[in-house]
Amino acid sequence: MSITTAEQLEKLRACGLIVAKALRAMTSAVRPGVTTAELSETGARILAENGAQSSPPLVYNFPGKVCISINDEVVHGVPGLRVIQAGDLVKLDLTAVKDGYHTDSAVSIQVPPAAEKSRELAHCAERAFRQALTAARPGNRTKDIGRAVEREVRRRGFQVIKELGGHGVGRTIHEEPSVPNYADPAARHVLTAGLVITIEPIIAAGTGKVSLDRDGWTVRTADGSLSAHYEHTIVITKRDPILLTAA
Ligand code: CO
Repeated sequence: MSITTAEQLEKLRACGLIVAKALRAMTSAVRPGVTTAELSETGARILAENGAQSSPPLVYNFPGKVCISINDEVVHGVPGLRVIQAGDLVKLDLTAVKDGYHTDSAVSIQVPPAAEKSRELAHCAERAFRQALTAARPGNRTKDIGRAVEREVRRRGFQVIKELGGHGVGRTIHEEPSVPNYADPAARHVLTAGLVITIEPIIAAGTGKVSLDRDGWTVRTADGSLSAHYEHTIVITKRDPILLTAA
């Protein structure tokens, strides 16, 4: 969506702050021995306490509240009985809706002890996000964001996952435009002040090719390599973008 009133911005920001709070609570609950279902319930409880709901079950019938993907799992991991282990790289991806407005954010959490590659990959996803913010200006195109992401990721010796990327968001989870993580020549949408999008580098230590798990939801790296993800919902403005899902 594109924001046209102060009230819309306020409502999106309120939703974004709840998403940030829920991700913080889940992040501090990540430890060996906890199940992904328990982590998801922690997030869902914060949403409920703040009058928000998880979006993916409402919009896509996703069978869980938070997408939790571990190690070679890239996105859309279904919470369940899987137990977090020492050394895991855990991606928490939460989209919530409050008063009809949706915001979306994801983090990669390293369970100690961190393998060096794993820590570098998680840092790289976040750094690529920061680099992409500098391209998120009115007049630029969505491919300019993609170019900034891919440049940073390749510089670190990693790969973006081309099938997955950012998107418009606001009145539902996935809206136009799509925001690729590479300089896709087709991504010609011109950014305008007020536009609400996600920027979300989704990257891999291996080839960047992915496959769909037999559960029909979980996307994994095809070569079993590690994957990391970092995401915020932002608003394009004439100055720096507003990060709606940052605390
Ligand atoms: Co997203």
